[in-house]
Amino acid sequence: MRLRMAEAVVTRVAVVTGGNKGLGFEVVKSLCRLFKGDVLLTARNESLGRAAVASLEQTGLKPKFFQLDITDQTSIASLATHLSNTYGGLDVLVNNAGIMFGGPTRVPFEEQVKATMKVNFWANLNVCKAFFPLLRPHARVVNVTSMLASSALNRCAQALKERFTSPDITLTELESLMEKFENDVSSGTYSQTWPETAYGVSKIGITTMSLIQQRVLDREGKTDVVVNACCPGWCRTDMGGQSAPDSAEEGADTIVYLATLPPETMSPRGELVTHRKIKPWTKKRAL
Ligand SMILES: NC(=O)c1ccc[n+]([C@@H]2O[C@H](COP(=O)([O-])OP(=O)(O)OC[C@H]3O[C@@H](n4cnc5c(N)ncnc54)[C@H](OP(=O)(O)O)[C@@H]3O)[C@@H](O)[C@H]2O)c1
Repeated sequence: MRLRMAEAVVTRVAVVTGGNKGLGFEVVKSLCRLFKGDVLLTARNESLGRAAVASLEQTGLKPKFFQLDITDQTSIASLATHLSNTYGGLDVLVNNAGIMFGGPTRVPFEEQVKATMKVNFWANLNVCKAFFPLLRPHARVVNVTSMLASSALNRCAQALKERFTSPDITLTELESLMEKFENDVSSGTYSQTWPETAYGVSKIGITTMSLIQQRVLDREGKTDVVVNACCPGWCRTDMGGQSAPDSAEEGADTIVYLATLPPETMSPRGELVTHRKIKPWTKKRAL
């Protein structure tokens, strides 16, 4: 009886990274309407984040703000403590924050790789490492990736491609491969093995990471926790540019669909999903 009363007062909570603009902002907006619980709009820049919250409040929505720079371990730890103290757990995590060097750029490839990998792969991985222990039964995690990961994968050397799509790859192996990409670029020896795209390889990393995470959670026996990687499509945002075919709202649709998958969902589960459809990534085990 006492346990049931305790359960009754739990407030569910969703966290969206990079929520001040673009797809993250649209995801927050939709979750405020669809998710039963608090929605935390997080942003690395406090004034941009608070302005985004204020603009949603003007439409009657009530997101909460929390400052989060995903490249800053102290910032990550502070949100983990807040989630633990205020909510006792986490129900939805949308790893949306990301960067891309778009169009013609004078930034040397090595610098592009370091900066892009830092945010798109390592920081998202660190967020997961800090927040996964907080995931409650029925939690949903969406890691925002890109179909550019698939085209980058097709341009990797065959042996690498085999590893990224192997049902046996571990997080430790993935981390080593991502380090190797950075080292190969630094030493100028990457071109035989890796495609020349910092963004594409960083998104190979986050896609493969998502599929591994589901396997690990299942092995640990976590109750109905579902992780998917989501490509939102090419969307009109600061990153996607204005000639993209889809609006940010359309791009947010699949992310929100995955973030609100009903209890006991068996599919999509540990998949790469775009426009609400599964795109094969992992090679099936030979029978
Ligand atoms: N738009 C597309 O066509 C498209 C296609 C495929 C995948 N995606 C992916 O979708 C996600 C969102 O992209 P978008 O188009 O909405 O891009 P965007 O408009 O450029 O927004 C990116 C968001 O990420 C935040 N961010 C960057 N670094 C961060 C950090 N260290 N800590 C916290 N937040 C950080 C940005 O904050 P600031 O405002 O402070 O910079 C911003 O809020 C990205 O992961 C992107 O790779 C986009």
